[in-house]
Amino acid sequence: MSCVTKVKHPLIQHHLCTVRDKQTRSSEFRAAIGRLAVLVGMRATEDLPLTPVKIQTPICEADCQRIDVRVELVPILRAGLGMVEPLQGLLPDAAVWHLGLFRNEETAEPVGYYDKLPKSGAPNVALVLDPMLATGGSVEMVIERLMSWGVPDIRVLSIIAAQAGVDRVASHFPDVKVFVAEIDPDLNEQSFIVPGLGDAGDRIFDTPQHG
Ligand code: PRP
Repeated sequence: MSCVTKVKHPLIQHHLCTVRDKQTRSSEFRAAIGRLAVLVGMRATEDLPLTPVKIQTPICEADCQRIDVRVELVPILRAGLGMVEPLQGLLPDAAVWHLGLFRNEETAEPVGYYDKLPKSGAPNVALVLDPMLATGGSVEMVIERLMSWGVPDIRVLSIIAAQAGVDRVASHFPDVKVFVAEIDPDLNEQSFIVPGLGDAGDRIFDTPQHG
């Protein structure tokens, strides 16, 4: 069963206006990506398993529940960095494993350039962070890497995806859950999402490459 979830919330629609708008300044863009990341992240973590614990309050003992599986973050450099701090707000003890990929501008194929994952010790749940899922090639490379590391539960969190990209990931990895704020219909000839938001990495770090 493929598992692609488009998260619905009025605040998502509202903040998508900001990230789509080409007039939005980099600082505002980063802030809006952060808010959207939290909204998507809440949904992507809503079924994490809980274990009962006893907590001593200042008054008496209380029956509580705590997440006791390892949930860790895997941002895809560079743009995924824009989602790390917002997700750390939800999961303050989550380790962060960076994977560096860029798309070859001619072929749109991902090229890996940074990977320091250890040989063992994979977390129970990995949250892959990247604001854009276009052709799906980058996310696929990361999913394959996390599977080879031994992560049993891989969840992809993105802000805007192209229909072709989510279809590709869902058909190749039916057990991987994908959570997105919006799914756009098309890719252009440079494999950018249409209408999309442009290049998320360049907009987050204010490093325009085109014009
Ligand atoms: C963008 C984006 C994704 C990838 C999506 O990164 O942040 O990582 O492209 O494309 P795909 O689904 O077709 O693989 P980019 O290569 O622009 O690198 P950057 O984050 O360093 O800007």
